[in-house]
Amino acid sequence: MAPSSRHLLLLLLATTLIVPSASSHDDGGAGKAVYTKVCDESRFEAAGLVMSRYPYCNASIPYADRVHDLIGWMTVEEKVSNLGDWADGAPRIGLPPYMWWSEALHGLSSTGPTTKFDDPKKPRLHSGRAAVFNGTVFANVINSAASFNETLWMSIGQAISTEARAMYNLGKSGLTYWSPNINVVRDPRWGRALETPGEDPYVVGRYAVNFVRGMQDVPGHAGAGVDPMSRPLKTAACCKHYAAYDVDDWYGHNRFKFDARVEERDMVETFQRPFEMCVRDGDVSSVMCSYNRVNGIPACADARLLSGTIRRDWGLHGYIVSDCDAVRVMALNATWLGYTAVEASAAVLKAGLDLDCGMSWIVQDGKPVMDYLTSYGMEAIRMGKMREADIDNALTNLYMTLMRLGYFDGMSKYETLNEEDICTDQHKSLALDGARQGMVLLKNDDNLLPLNAEKHAAVSIRGPHAEAPEKVMDGDYTGPPCRYVTPLEGISKDVKIAHAANVTIYFGGINMHIEREGNDREDILLPKNQTEEILRVAEASPNPIVLVILCGGGVDISFAHGNPKIGAILWAGYPGGEGGQAIADVIFGRYNPGGRLPLTWFKNKYIHQIPMTSMALRPRPDHGYPGRTYKFYDGPEVLYPFGHGLSYTKFRYELTDATKGATVKISAAGRHCKRLSYKAGTLHAAPSCPAIDVASHACEETVAFNVSVINHGDADGAHAVLVYTIPPREVAGAPIKQVVAFQRVFVKAGSAATVGFKLNVCKAFGIVEKTAYTVVPSGISAIHLENGDSSSPSSVSFPVKISFYA
Ligand SMILES: *[C@@H]1O[C@H](CO)[C@@H](O)[C@H](O)[C@H]1NC(C)=O
Ligand SMILES: *[C@@H]1O[C@H](CO)[C@@H](O)[C@H](O)[C@H]1NC(C)=O
Ligand SMILES: *[C@@H]1O[C@H](CO)[C@@H](O)[C@H](O)[C@H]1NC(C)=O
Ligand SMILES: *[C@@H]1O[C@H](CO)[C@@H](O)[C@H](O)[C@H]1NC(C)=O
Ligand SMILES: *[C@@H]1O[C@H](CO)[C@@H](O)[C@H](O)[C@H]1NC(C)=O
Ligand SMILES: *[C@@H]1O[C@H](CO)[C@@H](O)[C@H](O)[C@H]1NC(C)=O
Ligand SMILES: *[C@@H]1O[C@H](CO)[C@@H](O)[C@H](O)[C@H]1NC(C)=O
Repeated sequence: MAPSSRHLLLLLLATTLIVPSASSHDDGGAGKAVYTKVCDESRFEAAGLVMSRYPYCNASIPYADRVHDLIGWMTVEEKVSNLGDWADGAPRIGLPPYMWWSEALHGLSSTGPTTKFDDPKKPRLHSGRAAVFNGTVFANVINSAASFNETLWMSIGQAISTEARAMYNLGKSGLTYWSPNINVVRDPRWGRALETPGEDPYVVGRYAVNFVRGMQDVPGHAGAGVDPMSRPLKTAACCKHYAAYDVDDWYGHNRFKFDARVEERDMVETFQRPFEMCVRDGDVSSVMCSYNRVNGIPACADARLLSGTIRRDWGLHGYIVSDCDAVRVMALNATWLGYTAVEASAAVLKAGLDLDCGMSWIVQDGKPVMDYLTSYGMEAIRMGKMREADIDNALTNLYMTLMRLGYFDGMSKYETLNEEDICTDQHKSLALDGARQGMVLLKNDDNLLPLNAEKHAAVSIRGPHAEAPEKVMDGDYTGPPCRYVTPLEGISKDVKIAHAANVTIYFGGINMHIEREGNDREDILLPKNQTEEILRVAEASPNPIVLVILCGGGVDISFAHGNPKIGAILWAGYPGGEGGQAIADVIFGRYNPGGRLPLTWFKNKYIHQIPMTSMALRPRPDHGYPGRTYKFYDGPEVLYPFGHGLSYTKFRYELTDATKGATVKISAAGRHCKRLSYKAGTLHAAPSCPAIDVASHACEETVAFNVSVINHGDADGAHAVLVYTIPPREVAGAPIKQVVAFQRVFVKAGSAATVGFKLNVCKAFGIVEKTAYTVVPSGISAIHLENGDSSSPSSVSFPVKISFYA
């Protein structure tokens, strides 16, 4: 069938069959639970089928056997028609169409064809179902990351999946969500920094694990001993975009054609690390491959990256989906190996892709842009380029995931969720609390903040973001928020706004015209006229002003940092629907900011030293190449370092168990010793066993310590403790330092909280050597903590001696 006529048919099917038991929806009662599942006797009867004839609907048979049965009924045409995100199902045997593509980056998103909020301006298509106009929009991920609070990240995932299940029950959404975005922010110009948890691979990985577990885990079915192939899923999350994807469009280098030239060491240490954590520790049920090429090969056609690494090495339980529409891009834009559409389709399936996300609703040249696998799969089979067995394998991965989601049998725990479970007070307050937790105080001369509502009876509000519209505050991948508070509205609740007040708050920053998907920045400055306006306002004000900056990636605001008339600077990210309230709570001291920057804020000069297209993390002084992220760059072009963040109180660290150092002895017998490079002149002779290969070691050794976080200021507050390790200083090419653990704690003024850490030696002291082995080096490493508060710095360091014995 030609793509266009097939598409028409799909549209018809979709409106009638996409919701498995359409009739049960016509209960007329808003508020009443409506639930849908494939294996519903009445559905089969209505279609003239007898359900008991289909073992795939027999809930007492193991999932794998049911899936085998289901695929066994399907003709090859039916199989092929289910390899795209807008899947036909097989109505002949009772399997309805399913739309795979939903998004939930920081709340249910309208992006993609599946999740549909009702439009108040349009009459409702399904009059019997309750309308849902809005969902909870949490702060953007870069904000949440700044909280360094794993509980928050998981809670957000839990709240979103509850709203997702409710929308699914109402026939307005799917069960499979292509979130989170866990690409590391390698370069400050990247347009999608706002969508991500920042520049540190470990922090990004922990974000992924927590968000995914919040989205997926069904209480009581997540622990050890649960069969990962049948473990139920609340919703299915997806870690994207794999791999080495972080150029969108920079001076004509666009993501569709970009070939990321990546050393294997950087691949393991930086680009793949969050994905490995997402799969191994988060047990995510999907990974999405990216548009770009990695060392010449399109990511979605790379068997080593897909079948080899994700599925075999990391043991994915789930499916691999292409970015939408990476397969077409491979043939049309990357023009890889001159592949035809048929050859590209065959190549991705062979490499281990299970599902092709297309752009089915985009019409180009009068035709819908279909996904390639369903459009060209049959031809590929006829030409002998695609094996039916590979299709069966892909479908198995897909239907196993749907089985675990209760798509076939229902999931009683979530069947009663409905519109009343969306935008609940609990979710709205989580969004508000999350937005507050992510605010980062960058500068606060003479404790200008917090403002005192009595003392500062009137404030003057200036700047382009004072009345920032939803699309600025909410960022991207979002739906209509439950509630929307602008900064001005938030501030107005406390104060009188006046033109001639003695305190001015300027709301500036950038927006999605400047940083967004498909658009990287050319500089990291504020717009010139905004800089000029801020300086004018500051100059004209009798007292120092407060500057609130909205942005995802960092901006070079050196001009403001160094200006005594700009007394305080607050980074608010893009804080979501409750953002205006969260900003006001921080400004007036109802919430003491405890966020820390999850990425380095560079000075603009830095970007002139490094092309965005160079992937290497490590510096090359001989080439004038400065290196990237706090782990490798230690030059002067940093405005605010990774981890920077002030507070209204003061925190000091004390090592409570008085460790002056730790010694770890590891038997090297039977271990694989690896060589390391050393800095010139640091060692007389290399040790006989310089480092052990982590893969050959049981990795049971730990280093534990307690640190007391003392609040010696006069406000209660939360503080995020970041723990770094520093590799032995003689080792060449090692990171300057690396985050290995973190914990956010609340401490009352005048008291202290003890935080305990137990670090696994391989995980915390492991480094990736030149040939990409993860090794533990012998010698003296260090554990290092610093509070990130340049106005009241405190740090703790102690050596950890690691030695091997034969
Ligand atoms: C479902 O499978 C079980 C186990 O194989 C079998 O005993 C039962 O008869 C099946 N039910 C139906 C309706 O076929
Ligand atoms: C991809 O290739 C098609 C066909 O040549 C072209 O129409 C389209 O603009 C290209 N897209 C990009 C992003 O370059
Ligand atoms: C809820 O969504 C509707 C439809 O998009 C929008 O018009 C309305 O403003 C939203 N409500 C709030 C409080 O933002
Ligand atoms: C602002 O004005 C109020 C009332 O005029 C005054 O009490 C307060 O001290 C002023 N604050 C500053 C920071 O000048
Ligand atoms: C800066 O210029 C742009 C484009 O002319 C304009 O839209 C914007 O409002 C100006 N911003 C300020 C702060 O003056
Ligand atoms: C940390 O403190 C806890 C509670 O007091 C204690 O049980 C533990 O042994 C301490 N850890 C270390 C490494 O001293
Ligand atoms: C971490 O987040 C959770 C969930 O929002 C919150 O209850 C808790 O107070 C936060 N912890 C700290 C120390 O801020």
